[in-house]
Amino acid sequence: MTLNTGVMVDKEEANRVLRILFRKGVVRKDLKIIYNGTEVIIPVKSTESLVHADTVQADFEERKNQISPRDLISLELEKLHVSTFIPDNWIRFGDALVIKESIWENPEEILLETVAKKMGLKTIYLDRGIKNGHRRTPSVIRIYGPGGEVTHRENGIIYSFDPEKVMFSPGNVNARISEGRRDYSGMIILDMFAGIGYFSLHIAKFSRNNTVFSCEINPDSYHFLKRNIDLNSLQGSMIPLLGDCRNVTPAIRADYILMGHFQCLDYLVTAFLRSKIGTIINFHVLVPTDRLGQYHFEIQSRARSLGCILDFMDQYIVKSFGPHIWHISVRMIVSNLLM
Ligand SMILES: C[S@@+](CC[C@H](N)C(=O)[O-])C[C@H]1O[C@@H](n2cnc3c(N)ncnc32)[C@H](O)[C@@H]1O
Repeated sequence: MTLNTGVMVDKEEANRVLRILFRKGVVRKDLKIIYNGTEVIIPVKSTESLVHADTVQADFEERKNQISPRDLISLELEKLHVSTFIPDNWIRFGDALVIKESIWENPEEILLETVAKKMGLKTIYLDRGIKNGHRRTPSVIRIYGPGGEVTHRENGIIYSFDPEKVMFSPGNVNARISEGRRDYSGMIILDMFAGIGYFSLHIAKFSRNNTVFSCEINPDSYHFLKRNIDLNSLQGSMIPLLGDCRNVTPAIRADYILMGHFQCLDYLVTAFLRSKIGTIINFHVLVPTDRLGQYHFEIQSRARSLGCILDFMDQYIVKSFGPHIWHISVRMIVSNLLM
């Protein structure tokens, strides 16, 4: 048994005291807090600054992998006597890290090196947001390492892409997973804005005997779309098409159409010309909070003016896009078509 020092508090007081101890920087993150009926024991590094605390010796259980990368980086920098801001909000893709410029401005070389070393990274990027809204090219700059292609695994799918050339939105993960969970077996699918295959790959991978036509206008994204089809061995069910979906979509009648582009309502005619009664269309749109409940009426009215009657199926919020603006996914089914 190994005994370590802890602070004992009543259960009701535990959260308040924990916050104070964290602020003082004395909580031991490598040991688990003991919850014992009405009492809680918080493991601490030292009791020097805790004159009024009720300190005890206890046998704390160790926390496995509790030291976060940020703590490791901080320890390393302490050893080097470097005091600098360390971000704790980043996105990791394989051996690359992407950090928002708003969080991390002008990082020092020593910090970059330490982050890369402690997290086993090859490249670090700074994300300045989307550069070209239409084609969704990212404004990502490389600030450390050689750059190039990264491989990211998510829910059984392998994605390869170059963060400097194409966008990858981690916030859309639930939308990708929900596409993978639906059963599209035996169906003809049209993904009009496929990107590197965010949705298409999930659909092709998790349903059987379907054909997924994936249009992509950006040559860089198309390159990675093809590469991802190969990496996931989906050559038999996915057909990548390079160009504007209005021109390159073949004359099919799809069972399911994905419109993963915020300007998708400008492409309704293309979708309706590839629809039949019973086709389900998934629109991804940006909607302000006050129109969340009625936005589908706007889609229905645009569709009606083009000779297509759409029945509402469901909608859900993919993510917050900005103050009072939501990225939503709306599914509608074609119930009548006059074209
Ligand atoms: C926002 S990304 C969406 C990717 C994915 N569907 C998603 O929602 O995560 C939109 C993609 O559509 C492509 N795109 C834009 N206009 C297009 C068009 N007219 N035809 C085909 N692809 C287009 C862009 O290059 C980009 O890769």
